[in-house]
Amino acid sequence: MKLDVLNDKIRKCKKCPLHESITNYVPGEGGEKARIFFIGEGPGEAEDKQGRPFVGRSGQFLREMIDQVGIEADDYFIGNVVKCRPPNNRDPKPEEIAACSGWLKQQLETIGPKVIVTLGRYSMDRFLSGVTISKCHGRIFKRKDGMYIMPLYHPAVALYSPAQKEVLMNDMKRLPVLLKYLEDQS
Ligand code: URA
Repeated sequence: MKLDVLNDKIRKCKKCPLHESITNYVPGEGGEKARIFFIGEGPGEAEDKQGRPFVGRSGQFLREMIDQVGIEADDYFIGNVVKCRPPNNRDPKPEEIAACSGWLKQQLETIGPKVIVTLGRYSMDRFLSGVTISKCHGRIFKRKDGMYIMPLYHPAVALYSPAQKEVLMNDMKRLPVLLKYLEDQS
């Protein structure tokens, strides 16, 4: 299935009650053949208004970092664990994450990224179990199916902390190195 067809399907989803309070669905955006898939938690207020992922303050910061490490716009996709904004930015509930998980799976199948970058705990928990973000941020895990997972702190955590910003930026710098390594392997 093509990505825009899939995203249109997501925009009609009623699998959980979250859609009842949203302005817009936020399926995600980016390259159809992206090698990197960034996965956040869920849309916030700005994202809900615009129907686009990571367009608020933490999103701008994330996009700046991606740009600074030289990842091309069509080489990444940004999405979220849940595609609808949880009311008042509360954490997504397990049943909401479960209801939305099929969409994320289909997006991953459609795009076929080489690297999944999880942003924050909810996204990390979806792909890695038994790890803590403080110990494993910036590390690269290889899955049995050959896909690589890199957990990062959520950019919102780093927004107001110069020390955390540096940690996140240093982790982010590993991405182009990983992409180059993957190119050399193929
Ligand atoms: N935070 C997220 O996790 N996702 C967004 O799209 C925006 C902020």
